[in-house]
Amino acid sequence: MNLLIKNGRIITADQDYVADILVDGETIVRIEPSIAAENDVEVIDAAGKYVFPGFIDPHVHVYLPFMGTCAKDTYDSASRAALVGGTTTLIEMCCPARDDEPIDAYQLWKSKAVGVSACDFSFHMGVTRFDSTVKDQLRQIAEDGIQSFKVFLAYKGAFSVTDSELFQVCRLAKELGVIVTAHCENAELVASLQSELVASGNLGPEYHEPSRPVEVEAEGVHHFCTFLEMTGASGYIVHTSCQPAVEAAQKFQARGVDVAIETVIPHLVLDKTYAERPDFEGAKYVMSPPLRDVSHQAFLWNAIESDVIATVATDHAPFDFVIQKEMGKPPESDFTKIPNGIPSVEHRATLLYTHGVLTGRITLQQFVRLVSTNAAKLFGMYPTKGTLQVGSDADLVIWDPEYRGTISAETHLMNTDYDGFEGFEIAGRPAVVLCRGQVSARDGQFTGTLGHGRFVARKSRNQASES
Ligand code: URP
Ligand code: ZN
Ligand code: ZN
Ligand code: ZN
Repeated sequence: MNLLIKNGRIITADQDYVADILVDGETIVRIEPSIAAENDVEVIDAAGKYVFPGFIDPHVHVYLPFMGTCAKDTYDSASRAALVGGTTTLIEMCCPARDDEPIDAYQLWKSKAVGVSACDFSFHMGVTRFDSTVKDQLRQIAEDGIQSFKVFLAYKGAFSVTDSELFQVCRLAKELGVIVTAHCENAELVASLQSELVASGNLGPEYHEPSRPVEVEAEGVHHFCTFLEMTGASGYIVHTSCQPAVEAAQKFQARGVDVAIETVIPHLVLDKTYAERPDFEGAKYVMSPPLRDVSHQAFLWNAIESDVIATVATDHAPFDFVIQKEMGKPPESDFTKIPNGIPSVEHRATLLYTHGVLTGRITLQQFVRLVSTNAAKLFGMYPTKGTLQVGSDADLVIWDPEYRGTISAETHLMNTDYDGFEGFEIAGRPAVVLCRGQVSARDGQFTGTLGHGRFVARKSRNQASES
């Protein structure tokens, strides 16, 4: 079926104009001021609405065995939630345990998505050990179109890599033209501070932030960027939460190190007082790096406004409050056992639009760059994804700026028993979402098909610079 989107205001990373878009199957075939509707065409009237390229969330967790439990979503629930929120492509973190073989982990993660996901998907390949067998497997995985690795400097005894492993990962990444994404917190410092706090009887979720202060994150950023500088690899710092961490990265950028900065929606609209809520409710807001003092929000917004921050992702990591977050409930337990993460894949664009565009902090074009184009460019999908041009995938969000609503766990599609943004008012949302030509969401309802989502094989930085 061909689709004709008429009279929409098309917003890309650098353009803003009114035109019609003709979609043939999965692809955009014409963008012109006035396209006549042929007989076999379904017409969607986008007058008064914005038309954005489909959003890309470059940092999500769907299948995540972590901290003694497993994240709640499947690709069924996560892709529905993503699409309703306008996200047509997910890049999930594949996070093997240290003893797992990377190729097995990669196949396992991929098998959870193939045939199930309603939206397109790819993976960052987590490297949690490095030796010669791992090296060969990583080469193979990169050849399959996984052009990004993920390292954790945090999570001692679980995902964290040693410095010698980090050095080798960066060297291999440089050779292959693969970008290294990194969770930057000093694992030893976190472990020491956690032990001290727990030994002193400080057990509640409000002690999560003091166990990972901003210095711990800034040190992680400095540490990671040093390895990038020494190897010449390109890097991407995930979920940057605070001023010292951003400033640490900027120092390396100023020296010519190729490192991009991501922040995530929880750090832009929530602060550490949420994790201080009484009766253990604060556990809903335990994520790492932690929610910060509210003063860091203004800094992050300024960094977004001035294009220092390249992407706004979610770090969607869905755990239930009952049973899962309760694993860390005092007095029997403590905050170090609370599974880290806040479900958010559904709400990224509506919250960024409400708190960013409508407050005048960012322009519509910046919005598009932050939720779509920059991720497409950084992770080897541009211009198939991340923009609206002839030949691009027909991933489109027709945005209704008039919509007003309130976020609630009662209506969300994510598979968790709470919503960290409960009661937040939103202005604007996707009216129609196309994922490669399929109408996958309308006005908050999923209308797509499970299994429609396709694995996206991405270009390496070497391939991208050749084309
Ligand atoms: O708290 C978080 N961020 N949970 C998910 C795992 C990670 O560190 O990204
Ligand atoms: Zn992380
Ligand atoms: Zn260091
Ligand atoms: Zn994450």
